[in-house]
Amino acid sequence: MKHNGRFGQFGGFYVPEVLIPALEEMEKAFYKYYKDKKFTAELDVLSHDYAGRPTPLYYATRFSELVGFKVYIKREDLLHGGAHKVNNCLGQGLLAKYMGKTKLIAETGAGQHGLATSMIGALFGMQTKIFMGAIDIERQSVNVHKMRLCGAEVISVKGGTETLKDAINEALRYWTANVADTFYLFGTACGPHPYPTIVKHFQSCIGIEARAQCLEKIGKLPDIVTACVGGGSNAIGIFSAFIDDKNVKLVGVEPAGKGIKTGKHAAPLNAGKVGILHGTKMYLMQNKEGQILDTESISAGLDYPGVGPEHCLLKDTGRAQYVAVEDKDVLDIFDIFTKCEGILPALESSHSLAWVYSQKGKLPADTTVVVNLSGRGDKDVDIVERNRKPL
Ligand SMILES: Cc1ncc(COP(=O)(O)O)c(C=O)c1O
Repeated sequence: MKHNGRFGQFGGFYVPEVLIPALEEMEKAFYKYYKDKKFTAELDVLSHDYAGRPTPLYYATRFSELVGFKVYIKREDLLHGGAHKVNNCLGQGLLAKYMGKTKLIAETGAGQHGLATSMIGALFGMQTKIFMGAIDIERQSVNVHKMRLCGAEVISVKGGTETLKDAINEALRYWTANVADTFYLFGTACGPHPYPTIVKHFQSCIGIEARAQCLEKIGKLPDIVTACVGGGSNAIGIFSAFIDDKNVKLVGVEPAGKGIKTGKHAAPLNAGKVGILHGTKMYLMQNKEGQILDTESISAGLDYPGVGPEHCLLKDTGRAQYVAVEDKDVLDIFDIFTKCEGILPALESSHSLAWVYSQKGKLPADTTVVVNLSGRGDKDVDIVERNRKPL
């Protein structure tokens, strides 16, 4: 390995021996191609013509009036597929193609990464299998239909909490047995090295664009950049361009579910302890014996007991702050923001909007905040309806 994928004490690659050659091959290919002229030119064209980059930075006038400071929205929801996931899938999919792989597998929670992988499988003519927890299949059924329409096989994972953690377990198990011709297209900046590094690289376009757009539109850098944190890919994607700008505050928002004190949440940076799962060392929701705790969040895409290793380091060094918001506030902001702006935010992205709303009356009027709107909420309309407070 070129380096061991450590972020302070976090990260690494704690995997069965049979996967080490595949991860080494992937790392080698990544460093061979990520700056290669042909590879980057092909990726640039696809990002532009297929995915729809660059995405706009939108000044949310009415929402800004409501909260009393200036809110800019990075519109990843406008991308093909409806979320930031396509950035990483195009990058890793192209890498798989350059490596001569013919089969893709992926895990998915909200179905956005599964959908993006299925789109890329169709685009490159690769056989695609998506592992998804049975509960997530039910709560994100629209995306399941779309994946199947793209030609992917969606495998329902039963057992455990039947959510993202279990889907990753099953995908890793499958990969271990089929490693020779299969590329595991991992969906977030977590998992064993080199995934946190690769995923960050392919998502860093969000931050690079947002930083330049701030300078162009506002004439200065923002005071705060915020994003929701599941495994951490959209957040590290936007944070990465601002990490050296010490005056820009970085705020990651985790799902507090039914409340941190109830234990029914998925907020490892707020309430977890250091442990190892899915090949990486990170903050993790676990009991005293190290058993993984069940997680709970209204948003399938954030319903995961761990978090990417670089976020763990950013928390420990104090460079980023990680807060958590509850489901009820997420549902409220879904309505509030949609009525203000006519934009349906994904329940995942609604977490960062809910935190921004919680700052109403607390920040000076000239404060500028950039929110990464990681995805659109069309997939969540049924969940919002079902959980709506009775009138
Ligand atoms: C729209 C959206 N935002 C955010 C996430 C969370 O993932 P990550 O933390 O990797 O950005 C997901 C995951 O499915 C998602 O679909």
